[in-house]
Amino acid sequence: MPKSTNSNGEARKNLMNDLTEILFTEQQLKQRIGELAVQLREEYHDKRPLLISILKGSFVFLADLVRELDFDCTIDFMIVSSYGSKSKSTGAVKIIKDLDIDIENRHILIVEDILDSGLTLSYIKRILEAKKPASVRICTLLDKPARRTAQITADYVGFTIPDKFIVGYGLDYAERYRNLPVIGVLDPSIYSDE
Ligand code: IMP
Ligand code: MG
Repeated sequence: MPKSTNSNGEARKNLMNDLTEILFTEQQLKQRIGELAVQLREEYHDKRPLLISILKGSFVFLADLVRELDFDCTIDFMIVSSYGSKSKSTGAVKIIKDLDIDIENRHILIVEDILDSGLTLSYIKRILEAKKPASVRICTLLDKPARRTAQITADYVGFTIPDKFIVGYGLDYAERYRNLPVIGVLDPSIYSDE
């Protein structure tokens, strides 16, 4: 079956067919992000935090989250890539794009799409802490605790999810599916085929 057609609606429908289950609808995501924003306001309304988004997966979450924040904050981005294969990961990450903003004495909120093994985030957190910020906390849209190997917990969690490979709302499989407006479980036949 062709994966793309002339009509956008039809193309989106085909992409959705690769999901076995929708975990979170647009409405559920919007509501939960609104709740996270209320929590974040309590902590950060007078602290002018620096939100650090780890690309690429968190770009959709960040975009929706910051538009719910009604207090002063700044935003920066990091791009990192893991060394070696996921299964053999040492947790060391290569920084492809570093911060533009000096973080000394700043309150840092790392914004992530998903906390999985935790290796990436624990490495990034260590790097940031060495730069003497006032605080470093983690806000992740999704938490998959079943696969955690690093000792790290998020301070703010959107949803805790089971150990399934999910895509959509910024999360990818082989760079695809990031544009789905929902979060769903990817049909395992998609990745066992390739
Ligand atoms: P970890 O916590 O160091 O294992 O890596 C987290 C990163 O792995 C996330 O930022 C995602 O890019 C990716 N990841 C982990 N689980 C999933 C998933 O279920 N779907 C898509 N990407 C995932
Ligand atoms: Mg990814």
